[in-house]
Amino acid sequence: MSTMVRATAPSNIAFVKYWGKRDAARQWPANDSISMTLSSARTVTTATPRPDQMNDTLFMNERSVDLTGKSGSKAHAQLARLRAAVAQTTGGATPSLSLSTKNTFPASCGIASSASGLMALTLAALGAWTGASTVEALGRAGFGRARLRELARLGSGSACRSLDGGYVRWYAGSSPGEQSASPLHDAAHWPLADVIVVLSSGEKAVGSTEGHAAAWTSPLFGPRLAGLDRRLSAVTKALAERDLERLGDELEAEALEMHAVMMSATPGVNYFAERTAPFLAWVREERAKGRLPAWFTLDAGPNPHLIAKAQDAADVASRVRARWGDDTHMIIDRAGTGAELELASP
Ligand code: PMV
Repeated sequence: MSTMVRATAPSNIAFVKYWGKRDAARQWPANDSISMTLSSARTVTTATPRPDQMNDTLFMNERSVDLTGKSGSKAHAQLARLRAAVAQTTGGATPSLSLSTKNTFPASCGIASSASGLMALTLAALGAWTGASTVEALGRAGFGRARLRELARLGSGSACRSLDGGYVRWYAGSSPGEQSASPLHDAAHWPLADVIVVLSSGEKAVGSTEGHAAAWTSPLFGPRLAGLDRRLSAVTKALAERDLERLGDELEAEALEMHAVMMSATPGVNYFAERTAPFLAWVREERAKGRLPAWFTLDAGPNPHLIAKAQDAADVASRVRARWGDDTHMIIDRAGTGAELELASP
């Protein structure tokens, strides 16, 4: 049986970063990572089986994407991987799909769309082919949560942290097959806010695939990996104890360390925009003066994420506007729940 379904998957912001892979083909990361699942930054993907169509079709934010071209290549490869998984698991038919996907956040705003996008695509395609219209029903069809995380991870590493809500750890394990991801706490444990400050909305010069590969060439990468067990323990403890000062200090050191690895790799990659470094310095100065209860992190891009207590988010945003201009584009998000799958009507 095949069904029209809608999957909704959240994006996530890493507190301890995934940067560098031990095995690219099997998406085995160099280290464990920990992220916070976001609430309003989500990808919504609808999948409709179309046995009458020769090929899959994909509309992204209402525009047709060529699945055989560069922009559609991740989705194309993921659909092939998911078809193989269905053939192996249920042996059921995997007709062409008509896919439509939308992000609830603008492109190039400093929120990674690959994590939410690949998780939503995985859930939607598997749901459409197996007839499962909930994540639980997918489990009964042979696609339990561990398998869903694994399949999404093969499409984009950080996507394995987008199935669950709250705070999630991706464990590298001691071999590619031993890796796993699981939630540490749900969002209610500690409702933190993420105030994303869009300093630059230009396209990234270097995608994460090339960046991950270059990490090993940085002389700072070895020392980084050697120190990560300590950081992972400190972040885990700060999350358990809801200790924002401890968490915040680790967040900032971690983001700067990842960017130092990026910049010192061969080829070096600089994701900072003109205002990124001055902004980060300002956050530290204001906080030291007791005026800004927020700590920064960054992804592979120029736009800082300010992590703060939920009740401080509006105040943090107004202080950013007062210094960086009333027209500063910000997205105020917070810790949220996990991915969902439901029946959709045409
Ligand atoms: O999942 P990818 O290949 O897009 O890599 C994500 C890398 C970072 O966003 C920079 C860090 C992370 O852990 O999410």
